[in-house]
Amino acid sequence: MTDNVLVVDFGAQYAQLIARRVREAHVFSEIVQCTISADEVRAKDPAAIILSGGPKSVYEVPAPSLDPAIYELGIPVLGICYGAQLMAQQLRGEVARTGVGEYGRTTVTRQGSSALLGEWPAASTCWMSHGDAIVRAPDGFVVTAVSPEAPVAAMEDVQRRLYAVQFHPEVMHTEHGQAFRENFLHREAAIPATWTNSSIIEDQVAAIRKQVGDEKVLCALSGGVDSAVAAALVTKAVGTQLTCVFVDTGLMRKNEGEQIEETFTRQFGVELIHVKAQDRFFDALAGVTDPEQKRKIIGELFIREFEAVARDLEADGNGPRFLVQGTLYPDVIESGSGHAANIKSHHNVGGLPQELSFELVEPLRLLFKDEVRHVGEELGLPAEIVWRQPFPGPGLGVRIVGEVTRERAEILRNADYVVVDEIKRAGLYRELWQSFAVLPVVRTVGVMGDGRTYAYPIIIRAVTSDDAMTADWARLPYEVIESIANRLIREVEGVNRVALDVTSKPPGTIEWE
Ligand code: XMP
Repeated sequence: MTDNVLVVDFGAQYAQLIARRVREAHVFSEIVQCTISADEVRAKDPAAIILSGGPKSVYEVPAPSLDPAIYELGIPVLGICYGAQLMAQQLRGEVARTGVGEYGRTTVTRQGSSALLGEWPAASTCWMSHGDAIVRAPDGFVVTAVSPEAPVAAMEDVQRRLYAVQFHPEVMHTEHGQAFRENFLHREAAIPATWTNSSIIEDQVAAIRKQVGDEKVLCALSGGVDSAVAAALVTKAVGTQLTCVFVDTGLMRKNEGEQIEETFTRQFGVELIHVKAQDRFFDALAGVTDPEQKRKIIGELFIREFEAVARDLEADGNGPRFLVQGTLYPDVIESGSGHAANIKSHHNVGGLPQELSFELVEPLRLLFKDEVRHVGEELGLPAEIVWRQPFPGPGLGVRIVGEVTRERAEILRNADYVVVDEIKRAGLYRELWQSFAVLPVVRTVGVMGDGRTYAYPIIIRAVTSDDAMTADWARLPYEVIESIANRLIREVEGVNRVALDVTSKPPGTIEWE
């Protein structure tokens, strides 16, 4: 038996959160589709299975279901919310449309002893989100907790190792969520807590060494967290066999190139090729105002610059066979389900050079973003890189509305630096998903000193989000907005006005283009 947990997906967001929580208890978790068969489960040989919640009702047609033979495998199964109701229904209990659901904080009261709830207090606050309710537990199950509108808030059949809860132990608002999860994982399923950052690093280092042998490896550094951590892992594994490439498009954040050089060349001793391609990017973008066309130009030029480096290395008889990509687990899951809508043509450094015949090295394929950051810290990357907010592939290009010129890029880079610096000073940088400056096309009249000005406004964009699929505009304190605005006007030449973007996503997107 492996020490892995399978999280069966009945609605992507729920499954990802559960999988992350399992990993926080130092147990490896893998998300699988609900169409998985009992034979496939047996082949994966997991130590436990968790059925996620989901947006559907078991009464909907079609509603996602589960191969019932999975309940017979003798592997501990925990059903959560939809997963609990499905288990109840499939094992011939009863789920009903009671007409009164529970949403949000709900008091759950214990009933008798319970292997699953263990030392839980008699009553505690749990997060609920259900319209239907289990009204009768299947034969063999004992009901171990109730809530005002859920006659079966928790049930278990210890003999068959089947457990179910109506509430969401994975969300923060459930008081004893982590204790509950650990109880299930470590006690009921008897899985040891061995999945740690150091074990991830050891496993990946071994895997990289095995994959690349003594061949050369190439990695494009974007300035972002993922490519930096992937490169650091590969460095640890095969050291000088790695060559990193950093293409400066002229659309990077302030000091980004220097910081990458400092970290990778001086600290890690990696061979870094710093391509100063600013002029070529500004030339290619001259006169272009259409957002999609700008993205295309930046993406294509990036490939060409990267290819040129690869060809030069090849010509020296030193051509790399492998290319590092910072693909993360959510990308792996999403590309498997094929649901992603293409709102903007995304440019990802790692996704680019498909025409080149590289074999891919993807050391972060199994990791969530927070795990990547922790691994990065453990590998000795500076906090400034590890905790950086996401930055789009086309860089400042999608935040300069209209034509991208050297001058406008410089204004925005300086403005962006001020916004981020003030947000950091206020201690808000890690809390916010993103915080940055946007440069529009318009100019407005102002007065500074004794003179009339005609200059650009800067728009402050700050959002909170969990996954960038939806986002809310951040309620920044007035004092923070004020200090950002003061510094923007004082320190950034070419700016005479400041505005705040109060659009959530939807209807807006996070970036302006
Ligand atoms: P939007 O603007 O679509 O952005 O709400 C969602 C998230 O994706 C980032 N973003 C990109 N990331 N290449 C990337 O790697 C891109 O072309 C790109 N465009 C947007 C954006 O910063 C936000 O976090």
